[in-house]
Amino acid sequence: MAQPQPGIIPAPSPCALFLILRVHEPAVNGPAVAKVAAQVPTLVKKVGASDRRAKLLCTVGFGSEFWDVVSPGRRPASLRPFKAIEASGRSAPSTGGDLLFHIISRRHDLNFELAVRTRNLLGGTVEVMDEVHGFRYLDSRDLTGFIDGTENPKGSERAPAALISDEDPDFAGGSYVFTQRYVHNLKHWASIPQKEQEKVIGRRKPDSKELSDRAKPPTAHISRVVIEENGEELQIVRHSFPYGTVSESGLFFIAYSKSPDIPEKMLSRMMGTSDDGLHDHLMDYTQAVSGATFFAPSLNALKMLGKMSRAF
Ligand code: HEM
Repeated sequence: MAQPQPGIIPAPSPCALFLILRVHEPAVNGPAVAKVAAQVPTLVKKVGASDRRAKLLCTVGFGSEFWDVVSPGRRPASLRPFKAIEASGRSAPSTGGDLLFHIISRRHDLNFELAVRTRNLLGGTVEVMDEVHGFRYLDSRDLTGFIDGTENPKGSERAPAALISDEDPDFAGGSYVFTQRYVHNLKHWASIPQKEQEKVIGRRKPDSKELSDRAKPPTAHISRVVIEENGEELQIVRHSFPYGTVSESGLFFIAYSKSPDIPEKMLSRMMGTSDDGLHDHLMDYTQAVSGATFFAPSLNALKMLGKMSRAF
């Protein structure tokens, strides 16, 4: 299979930086932007060379419309913009974005250095829509205090969950990326007892042990996102991070999958738009303020975009 971009499969690093950009006048600036995007793997090597143990990596994703500009006539079979969801006072907005840079390493300073250099190369062709600096919180907990990542696919399970393979051979090694920035209402969350919080998540708080089937309500987060189809559980590879300040904080949710249908189905069950009409009670304590789908081409396809842009 074509080599994926190197940040998708490794287990999460302690520091992340997420940059979502809009491209001005894509028809004019598209080729120049594609050229910079294609140079990112080389830039990562340069910046990362100052401390290889920091394991600096970056994944580049393209929004659906911008992909058509940089790769006219050749698009991944399921690439489309994320459709906003509204249901009984709950909302998952679609805010879009043309480019995603998902930077991870063991050092915030190197993440920042890479982000600044990339942004400077793009100059006036882009504007920053969202920039989120994520940090590992305690022993990999979300700011709700629950361990996040317990049931993330591990080892050899990760590539089949995250990467396109034979179902779309032209784009094998690529991945669909779903992002949402959530702002938590931690005051509201802290107002309910730990036993209630555990019913909202479906796991015990200290050790992430799953509640028994009897104790776990169908509205628990994990009851909503565990979906079986044809005897198999639908899988995504999550790289989410807590972020924020004392004034506003939450989770930057990001998941890689071989099809955008998978996170969308999970989200629909969370928001209360699936057949059973139930919603994820975690959504009563947090609000999504952004949402977008991107395509992260294989490493080779990313490098090719730079070459193709010379022909424009
Ligand atoms: C505020 C946003 C969210 C928070 C705080 C959150 C937190 C958590 C926590 C604490 C767990 C349990 C531990 C684990 O297995 O990782 C979990 C599991 C999971 N979450 Fe979320 N999550 C959020 C949003 C989402 C979204 C938007 C999706 C999908 C679109 C999702 C998909 C999953 C999946 C697939 C699991 C694993 C379930 C299992 O196999 O047991 N989460 N999440």
